[in-house]
Amino acid sequence: MDRVIRIGMLGCGTVGGGVATILARESDDITARTGAKLELVRIAVRDTARDRGLGLPAGTFTTDPLSVVEAEDIDVIVEVMGGREPAGSLIRRALELGKPVVTANKELVAHEGPELYAAAQAAGVDLAYEAAVAGAIPIIKPLKESLAGDRVLRVVGILNGTTNYILTRMTEEGADYAEVLADAQALGYAEADPTADVGGHDAAAKCAILASLAFDTTVHADDVFTQGIETVNATDIRVADRLGYVVKLLGIASEVDGRVGVRVHPAFLPKAHPLASVRGAFNAVYVEAAAAGELMFYGPGAGAEPTGSAVVGDVIDVARNLLQTARGAIESQHRVKDLRSIDELRTQYYVLLDVEDAPGVLAAVATTFGDHGVSIAQVWQEGAEDSAQLVLITHRAREDALRTTVEALAPLPSIRSVASVLRVEAEVFAS
Ligand code: NAP
Ligand code: HSE
Repeated sequence: MDRVIRIGMLGCGTVGGGVATILARESDDITARTGAKLELVRIAVRDTARDRGLGLPAGTFTTDPLSVVEAEDIDVIVEVMGGREPAGSLIRRALELGKPVVTANKELVAHEGPELYAAAQAAGVDLAYEAAVAGAIPIIKPLKESLAGDRVLRVVGILNGTTNYILTRMTEEGADYAEVLADAQALGYAEADPTADVGGHDAAAKCAILASLAFDTTVHADDVFTQGIETVNATDIRVADRLGYVVKLLGIASEVDGRVGVRVHPAFLPKAHPLASVRGAFNAVYVEAAAAGELMFYGPGAGAEPTGSAVVGDVIDVARNLLQTARGAIESQHRVKDLRSIDELRTQYYVLLDVEDAPGVLAAVATTFGDHGVSIAQVWQEGAEDSAQLVLITHRAREDALRTTVEALAPLPSIRSVASVLRVEAEVFAS
């Protein structure tokens, strides 16, 4: 007779529903692979009256998540309720009770990961969070285990499905930003409050988690330089296309001379780069490692069953470890490493200016760039008269020099507005 491992789940929304479906549908194979039957015995939700279409007995559901965590007959806790609290306190209590935890909660892991790993370590149990970054894509395990003997140099990701969906449709159909955002919400890609997606904060949380693992340090979500896609416009996308680029929201983390830089922002990416072909709501993570070279992990970054797949994979891992009274691969040692400020970044920039269509405007703009030590590689005018715009592509410059240039341009009488400033990640990603 197989042993039974009893699971208590906190939350049963999009991801929890996927987890319950997979556990039921793949039950026989999961039992064979785990060496134990995994039973979903209790689930905490806010509304127990709602029919979730999962065929589970009504008595499975409770509105008291702490009772699930503390139940003596529950061996493993799956946290898929989201948010920092009460999820964080519930996970800490589970670990204190010696129960392994599987979570999909990127927000919590990106803010409190090191404290939670320390609690898991102290209790001698597993804390697994593959689903927290890029949904179905296995990336936590590759960084933690498969690449444990290598030195990661850089991680670049398309880590948010909503923004990639919006930018793809703006690029391929010339669609309008607001209209495509509404579609992304209707399709269930966007978070309840889509500012987390379009403002880059969702990708920043995921990028912080990846950077912490890749560079064996602690990067909090708040440490990530974050810029969203709200101001990306049709001209940006058209200019990028003309120059051989696509506009993507990228999460970029790299270590240079022992210091770690982590940033999330829209950028011009060469069409030839493997990440440029990642379309729609898909995610991808591109890893450069000293020995392995270039690797790319690609797939669905969200959704009930894709994310549920990653959660169930973790549940099987922790269940196997429970059966062997072992623990999974240890977490990063979280060494203290300095963070590099975005001001030190050296890259090319694209600047779009709404200008007066008059003699001398270009000269004034060029002088301002020159005064701040930023060299112009290309410049041309789009439109005429009331809709005149200047497009400038710089040579590589420091971020702080570019910023002071833009600050000096804004008050010039011939400049109506600075419409866009985007980083150009040319053939090699900037550091
Ligand atoms: P969701 O659909 O909003 O589901 C949340 C669930 O938690 C609901 O069942 C809700 O109950 C329950 N819940 C919330 N607060 C509760 C409380 N205080 N007490 C009891 N139950 C509570 O969220 P989701 O999309 O599944 O996301 C869950 C987690 O996975 C989040 O951390 C999210 O960031 C992460 N994640 C999601 C995706 C995705 O594709 N959705 C992908 C990767 C990671 P009711 O159903 O009764 O309201
Ligand atoms: N809103 C997120 C996205 C869901 O668009 O990628 C997955 O974390």
